[in-house]
Amino acid sequence: MSFDASRLAHEAHVWLTSAEAITDEAILDRYRRLLSHEEAAHLGEIGSNRVRHQYLVTRALVRTTLSRYVEVAPEDWVFEISARGRPEIAEPSGMGLRFNVSHTRGVVACLVTDGIDAGVDVENMERSRDVRGLAERRFAVEEAAELKACAAEGEKNHFFGLWTLKEAYLKARGQGITLPLRSVVFLLSGHEGLQVRLDPPLEDRAADWQFGLFELSSSVLMAVALARGAGPDRRIVAWRGDPLLGQATRTPLTEVASTPSRPVVVS
Ligand SMILES: CC(C)(COP(=O)(O)OP(=O)(O)OC[C@H]1O[C@@H](n2cnc3c(N)ncnc32)[C@H](O)[C@@H]1OP(=O)(O)O)[C@@H](O)C(=O)NCCC(=O)NCCS
Repeated sequence: MSFDASRLAHEAHVWLTSAEAITDEAILDRYRRLLSHEEAAHLGEIGSNRVRHQYLVTRALVRTTLSRYVEVAPEDWVFEISARGRPEIAEPSGMGLRFNVSHTRGVVACLVTDGIDAGVDVENMERSRDVRGLAERRFAVEEAAELKACAAEGEKNHFFGLWTLKEAYLKARGQGITLPLRSVVFLLSGHEGLQVRLDPPLEDRAADWQFGLFELSSSVLMAVALARGAGPDRRIVAWRGDPLLGQATRTPLTEVASTPSRPVVVS
C-alpha cells in the first residue's frame, strides 16, 4: 500500500500502462498467479493472442492498482460483473474504492475513485473510420454539424474526442450502449469550454457531471466522466507504469477540453 486513499475525496486517479510493452514471460507468469479461477478460465477461452494478452495485463493493472490504496493483496480482490458487463469490487467490501477500465492499442487505463459513478475511455485514433458518416448516423445533429465545420486535419481528433466522451459517460452510468448515444451531446468548439447536454431519455442532468478530455499521445485520446458531489470539481491525476514492475511515475496530462468548473454554492 503506497497511497493515501483520502486523496480520492478531491482527486480521481488514472493508472496507465501499455500491454504491448510487457512481454517478459516471468512477469506475465506473475500476473497469471494473481487471477481468480473465473478470470483464469476466461483467459484460456480468449482466442486472439492480442486480446488474451490485453485481458491479462488489464487484470494485473486493476488488482495491483487497487492494492496501492488499501491493505489488500492483489490476488485477494474478488470482482462481480454487473448485468451490463461492468466489473465492480465484491470483496473485501466497504473499502470505499471503485474503478473502471478501458483498453485500446497502446494503452490500458484504470480509473480509481472513492465510490462515485465514474467512467474512462481510451481510443486509438489510428483506426480508419468514416468519421462523417458515423457522426451523421450515430451522433446528435449539432455534433455532426460541428464536425463537418472542422478543418480536414482536425476532423479525426474531433470525432474521437466526441466518441471517447460519450463512451466515458455511458461507462460511468454502467449501462453500456443500451443508452441512446444521440442523447449524450458534447460541443467542443465553443469558447466556454466543453459544453454538455443530456437529453430527456437519459433522465440525468449535465450539471451533475464533470468531464475531461486528454491527449495521451498523438494517436490516443482519453476521456473521464465523474459524477459531481457537493464540493469542488476533482483534480484528474495520472501515473504510468507496468504492474509489479518498478515504480509508477506521475505523468502530466495534456488537456484537450474540460467542463467549466461548477460554481460551488456555500450556504
Ligand atoms: C462495453 C462498453 C461499455 C465499452 O466498450 P469499448 O469502448 O469497446 O471498450 P473499453 O476498452 O473502453 O472498455 C471495456 C471495459 O469496460 C468495462 N465495462 C464493460 N461493460 C461496462 C459497462 N456496462 N459499464 C461500464 N464499464 C463497463 C469492462 O471493465 C471492460 O473491460 P474488461 O472486459 O477487460 O473488464 C460499451 O460502451 C460498448 O460496447 N461500446 C461499443 C462501442 C460503440 O458503439 N461506441 C459508440 C460511441 S459513439
